Amino acid sequence: MKRKVNAFDHVKDILTALPNGGVLLTSRGMGRVNTMTIGWGTIGIEWGLPVFVAYVREGRFTRELLDKSGVFTVNIPVGEPDRRVLAAAGTKSGRDGDKIAELGLTLEEPEVVSCPGIKEFPLTLECRVVCRQKQDITALAELPRNRYYPQDVPSTNPSSNRDAHVAYYGEIVSAYVIE
Ligand SMILES: Cc1cc2nc3c(=O)[nH]c(=O)nc-3n(C[C@H](O)[C@H](O)[C@H](O)COP(=O)(O)O)c2cc1C
Repeated sequence: MKRKVNAFDHVKDILTALPNGGVLLTSRGMGRVNTMTIGWGTIGIEWGLPVFVAYVREGRFTRELLDKSGVFTVNIPVGEPDRRVLAAAGTKSGRDGDKIAELGLTLEEPEVVSCPGIKEFPLTLECRVVCRQKQDITALAELPRNRYYPQDVPSTNPSSNRDAHVAYYGEIVSAYVIE
């Protein structure tokens, strides 16, 4: 069952989870459903729409899926998160295997977009990409540029690497808790 909520009533939950192990970003395309851990994200309003902005480095498999499908779900833990899942989804690439199956995650039929949620991370935002924009590393202040974009680290590195982030602005078209 899905208990509908107002996403903005859960801003504190979302912004608390992001820097404390992260949340999941689930995407689909090429016959696959994939999930990855994200620690960065913004929730707010632009173009008169409620939006969640995810920042995905160019080399991630997720980036390919997002570009193909234009939809994603954000899957936020309620209560203590399963840190084993967040660690694995944040270090393995969907290019190398089916993380959802390996981690025993349960997909939940979506309500509006074509991308499922994840029962074990029940606070769900269904999002439709309304804008995507590659960030300009040269516009960054020196400290974040040097810390987060080491140009000698290949883009296959699951952590910081040479790749810029692409900002995916997802209109939040539905929000609920899976119960
Ligand atoms: C706690 C945590 C937070 C992360 N946050 C982000 C993020 O915001 N953006 C990003 O591109 N990668 C982030 N990553 C790295 C990706 O989750 C990781 O590279 C993952 O393997 C990519 O999966 P994919 O290739 O299946 O898309 C994070 C990893 C961890 C462990």
